[in-house]
Amino acid sequence: MKQLMYTCLSFLVVTGATDGIGKAYAEELARRGMKVALISRSKEKLDQVASEIKEKYKVETKVIVADFGEREDIYGRIKAGLEGLEIGVLVNNVGISYVYPEYFIDVPDLDNTIDKMVNINIMAVCKMTRLVLPGMLERSKGVILNISSAAGMYPTPLLTLYSATKAFVDYFSRGLHAEYKSKGITVQSVLPYYVATKMSKIRKPTFNKPSPETYVRAALGTVGLQSQTNGCLPHALMGWLFSLLPSPAVMNLLMKTNKQIRARYLKKMKEK
Ligand SMILES: NC(=O)c1ccc[n+]([C@@H]2O[C@H](COP(=O)([O-])OP(=O)(O)OC[C@H]3O[C@@H](n4cnc5c(N)ncnc54)[C@H](OP(=O)(O)O)[C@@H]3O)[C@@H](O)[C@H]2O)c1
Repeated sequence: MKQLMYTCLSFLVVTGATDGIGKAYAEELARRGMKVALISRSKEKLDQVASEIKEKYKVETKVIVADFGEREDIYGRIKAGLEGLEIGVLVNNVGISYVYPEYFIDVPDLDNTIDKMVNINIMAVCKMTRLVLPGMLERSKGVILNISSAAGMYPTPLLTLYSATKAFVDYFSRGLHAEYKSKGITVQSVLPYYVATKMSKIRKPTFNKPSPETYVRAALGTVGLQSQTNGCLPHALMGWLFSLLPSPAVMNLLMKTNKQIRARYLKKMKEK
C-alpha cells in the first residue's frame, strides 16, 4: 500500500483498460489521484472511459490505441505515446481466454488463437515491462501489477494454452520481483478466480465471483504485502483449499468441471 502512496502524482498505465478488471484498476487509482494512460483497441471506448475518469476524479488522462494481438510492432507506437510520462504504476492486465473449454487441437481457429493468445497474454507483459521498467529504475520507484489467473496455478485441462500463458505471467512476475525489489520496484502476480466481467460471462457478482470494482479494491490492499496474491478474501480461501489437495486431484477436478462446461456450451450451440 505504501508503494502506491508516493505514486499519486505520477501516471498509471493500464493495458486492456476499457472494461472489466483493467477499467476497475484505472478508476480506483484515478480516485486516489493518479493520472491515467489507458491502452486498448477501441478509440471510441477509450475516449469514453477517459472522459468519465477525467470528469469524476479531475485527473489527467491519455489514451493509446493498440491491438496487442497484432503481429506488427505496436510497441514503437506505445513507446512514443508514453514518452515523457513519469510512470509510477503499470498494470499488465490485457488478456484473452478460450471462448469455451476445448481439447487443444479442436480449439476453433487454432493457429490464429495460438498467435493471438501468446501475443496478448505473454508478449504484451514482457514488452510493456521492458518499456516502463527503465524509467522506474532511474527513479528507484515503481509498481508493476501483472494480472495472471488462478488457471495459471495448476495446468488447467481444456484451457491448456490459456493456463500455460498465465503460468508464464506468474513466473515472470515472481522472478522480476526477486530481481528488482531491492531497487525500489514492486512486482506483483495477481491470480484471480472468477470475477464478473465480459470475459467470464458472469453478469451478476456474488461473494466468490465479485464485481471487478470489489475485486480490485481488495487486490490493491495486498500491494506491498504479497508479491503473489489471489487478490481478495474469497479467492484466497479457494486458493488455500486447492493447495490442500494433491495436484493430480486438482487437475482431475478441473478436467471434469471443464468437460461439463464444454458439453453444455456445445449443446447450446447445436440448439441455436
Ligand atoms: N474475469 C475473470 O474471471 C478473470 C479471472 C482470472 C484472470 N483474469 C484476467 O484478468 C484480465 C482482465 O480480464 P477481464 O475479465 O477484465 O477481461 P474483459 O472484461 O474481457 O476486458 C478485457 C479488456 O482488454 C481489452 N482488450 C481485449 N483484447 C485486446 C487486444 N487485443 N488489444 C488491446 N486491448 C484488448 C478490452 O478492450 P477492447 O475490446 O476495447 O480492446 C477490455 O478493455 C485478463 O488478463 C484475464 O486473463 C480474468
